[in-house]
Amino acid sequence: MGIRRVWLQPRESTVRVLYSPARPLQHWGVDTQTIVILDFGSQYTQLIARRIREQNVFSVVLPCTAPLSQVQALKPIGIILSGGPSSVYDADAPAADPGVLELGVPVLGICYGLQFIVHHLGGKVRSAPKREYGHAEVAVEDTATPLFAGLPASMHVWMSHGDEALELPAGFHRTAVTPNALAGIAHEQRRIWAVQFHPEVHHTPLGPQLLKNFVFKICGAAGDWTPAHFIETTVASIREKVGKGHVICGLSGGVDSSVAAVLVHKAIGNQLTCIFVNNGVLRKNEFASVQRNLRDKLGLNIVAVDASERFLAQLAGVTDPEVKRKRIGAEFIAVFDDEANRIARETGGVDWLVQGTLYPDVIESSSVKGPSQTIKSHHNVGGLPEHMKLKLIEPLRDLFKDEVRRIGRDLGMPEDILGRQPFPGPGLAVRILGEVTRERVALLQEADEIVVSEIKAAGLYSKIWQSFAVLLPVMSVGVMGDQRTYAYTAAVRAVHSEDGMTADWTPLPYEVLKRISSRIVNEVRGINRVVYDITSKPPGTIEWE
Ligand code: XMP
Repeated sequence: MGIRRVWLQPRESTVRVLYSPARPLQHWGVDTQTIVILDFGSQYTQLIARRIREQNVFSVVLPCTAPLSQVQALKPIGIILSGGPSSVYDADAPAADPGVLELGVPVLGICYGLQFIVHHLGGKVRSAPKREYGHAEVAVEDTATPLFAGLPASMHVWMSHGDEALELPAGFHRTAVTPNALAGIAHEQRRIWAVQFHPEVHHTPLGPQLLKNFVFKICGAAGDWTPAHFIETTVASIREKVGKGHVICGLSGGVDSSVAAVLVHKAIGNQLTCIFVNNGVLRKNEFASVQRNLRDKLGLNIVAVDASERFLAQLAGVTDPEVKRKRIGAEFIAVFDDEANRIARETGGVDWLVQGTLYPDVIESSSVKGPSQTIKSHHNVGGLPEHMKLKLIEPLRDLFKDEVRRIGRDLGMPEDILGRQPFPGPGLAVRILGEVTRERVALLQEADEIVVSEIKAAGLYSKIWQSFAVLLPVMSVGVMGDQRTYAYTAAVRAVHSEDGMTADWTPLPYEVLKRISSRIVNEVRGINRVVYDITSKPPGTIEWE
């Protein structure tokens, strides 16, 4: 996964909000039909959840060790047992409560999920003589079973398993095979189905149809989990929870905190105060544009604090990247705390804090994923010093990023905000190598604005994970007109990534690079050279500091 630095985000504070399975999932609307996915550790588990949600059916991932009562409390209309890396005979094989097979709720086992079902219902699993991993052709034997409704008798699938079911438990029959292995089983009276392949991955082209069959034909889902439904139930539940209380929210201008704030605002109006801090290292015009978008267009109650002097004073003389992060983080807490206290005095007390925590952070820290759990725990920590004792509202806790964008669109939020590329909390400070001064910030703001606007003009902005300029403390000789110049260098960085953990540099078209370079050199006085960063992550990182 490469090297990860420990970040101190500007919204980080002494309060560490850690996600544990014990923290209940937010539940909006008792009548939300839910598919529960029990996670046995497969790398594809999140994909199953997404595929189900794409059908407008809500799904949640629980660790396979979740107590039966927790599964029942969600009143699932169906249960999916995910794949996993283990063998059912491993000493530390992850185990779910076999009671999930007795609830009378339809069950779909996938890969390890199939082995789990066979093993726990009295069949036999053995290590397969031939490990199957990759593309395979499945022949459907039971075309009448609803799981395969509308699917052809033969289809491409993605297999990955080392064990195979040797003897089926009583009452089960085979529904599909590959040339080397069993591919599907069912016990229709008990409402249990299982497949050895992975219907959730892209390499199983008809997988979505199979999952759709499970969700609609077998579980009887209505498919009414839409953005409108989500907004309606979330707004109602926030209203009920908060009552007459007062809520604050730290806005960064990014997608998550903005959508969270707009949802809460829709529920309780001006009982919500958002705090938006100019830390002196925002992008060009960002302090004004975030206010324009969120206050002027969407009506949010925003306290905008221009604390750039305070931050820049803290950064004077600092060149070490981690010291920059720490200084910005500490200053942010100080500013936020001052404002929150002032709001508390004015409103007679603040009771709640809104956070834009997303679902992957929740799953990542509560599933059986081993060491990856802690990687992101600092990601969405935030809040205020402990003495404020705030309760949390996390309206996006159950959503993936693309779902957050869909909700934002339904709330009428501008694409400017929803399509924004990620921007680090310490802002331009980690893109100015060496000391951060007001002059250098201004130089980088200009160069960065040119990079972003040219990439937007080329129609590439939404296809790229992050694209920006970096200011290097390297001075070189150039010539402008008849004049010798001696000025700074800007590096252009553009990367493709799924989640920021790994990244590939983007081969920007030469034409775009050419325009960026010529505009920066001509328009930004103080920069006379532009280079392109062609380092992937790993071994590089996305940010230069
Ligand atoms: P790196 O540079 O580690 O960045 O490859 C991965 C992703 O994280 C963002 N990033 C940060 N975000 N505070 C943040 O809120 C930070 O200190 C920080 N450092 C990096 C980076 O922009 C990329 O999306």
